[in-house]
Amino acid sequence: PTPLRLGLAGLGTVGIGVVRIVQKHADLIAARAGRPVVITAVSARDRTKNRDADLSGYAWEDDPVALAQRDDVDVFVEVMGGHDGPAKAATEAALAADKDIVTANKALLAHHGQNLAETAEAAGRVIRFEAAVAGGIPVIKALTEGLAANQMRRVMGVMNGTCNYILTRMQNAGLPYETVFEEARQLGYLEADPNLDVGGIDAGHKLSLLAAIAFGTKVSFDKVELEGIGNVSIEDIRMADEMGYHIKLLGVAQMTGRGLEQRMTPCLVPAESPLGQLQGGTNMVVLEGDSVGQIVLRGPGAGEGPTASAVMADVIDIARGLRLPTFGRPAASLVEAVPARSATP
Ligand code: NAP
Ligand code: HSE
Repeated sequence: PTPLRLGLAGLGTVGIGVVRIVQKHADLIAARAGRPVVITAVSARDRTKNRDADLSGYAWEDDPVALAQRDDVDVFVEVMGGHDGPAKAATEAALAADKDIVTANKALLAHHGQNLAETAEAAGRVIRFEAAVAGGIPVIKALTEGLAANQMRRVMGVMNGTCNYILTRMQNAGLPYETVFEEARQLGYLEADPNLDVGGIDAGHKLSLLAAIAFGTKVSFDKVELEGIGNVSIEDIRMADEMGYHIKLLGVAQMTGRGLEQRMTPCLVPAESPLGQLQGGTNMVVLEGDSVGQIVLRGPGAGEGPTASAVMADVIDIARGLRLPTFGRPAASLVEAVPARSATP
């Protein structure tokens, strides 16, 4: 069978994870996908960096746009990050060059996913992004495939591991926000721009993608009511605890009489509930459908192995010939979301 050829843009945490899985599980992937999956070319900023992986068999491109346009690439795997600049330019170039896309980049899709989806569908290409929401948890597959026969009522969850780490550490150790924030920085948990994490923006990106799939709306990150965890004090946590609650950065998206409402805000959740018990960097997503009832998915929302696992699951789907619309239905048919009620003047 003809191999599926990947062009891998980004050789950081996720990109090197993808290299490792492709190399370690070549036979297993070929058997499951029905054809071999190979990396033909890679790109990153610094060609000389030691990446502790064997990249010798791959062509190198300094420019991810050039990588996206190569004739020996069938699927452009974008794991660079950033919602503008090279990630956007290279993804658009890949679609124009008739490549399918797999990305872990929630920021890119929250800002440009709607246009990219419409472009991809017009060109007969697919964009897959399982890794972009809740890392290793197969939540997008659950929604688009396993729950396809349900009218979704609500999706909610804890979708930023760094915030959950900070809140649970404050809770368990009784430490103030500033101390735990600094700890998280030293452990390397925070994004280069920490406000993406603690400002709730990263989690808001993820919620907007899940909501688009679940409710058939356009991706509407600009309609997400956002509040981060920077104002959660140790006194708030103590008082909540006395009343039997824990504070979590909780995303909730649900249909109301006004339309889709999306919120990513610190919330009180019952201390003994699965969400209240969620510790450290773990993510949890709760899906509620009219036929299935409630499903709870819990697992690693970040890290090399979990995120690369999700990227490769998308690659294998493409190798198998699965060609779903980006958000689970034709992008052009999607309806608009509304601002959450408390954000309405
Ligand atoms: P990372 O470790 O910072 O790696 C980024 C990679 O992209 C680096 O190899 C970097 O090159 C390369 N890069 C950046 N700008 C470039 C440019 N202009 N041209 C070519 N290459 C460029 O990031 P990451 O943690 O792997 O994350 C990648 C993506 O996955 C992001 O969208 C992130 O949000 C998403 N994601 C990450 C995780 C996670 O756990 N890390 C989880 C879920 C989703 P150099 O190495 O040469 O600097
Ligand atoms: N900064 C993100 C988090 C990485 O802490 O969850 C995974 O998307």
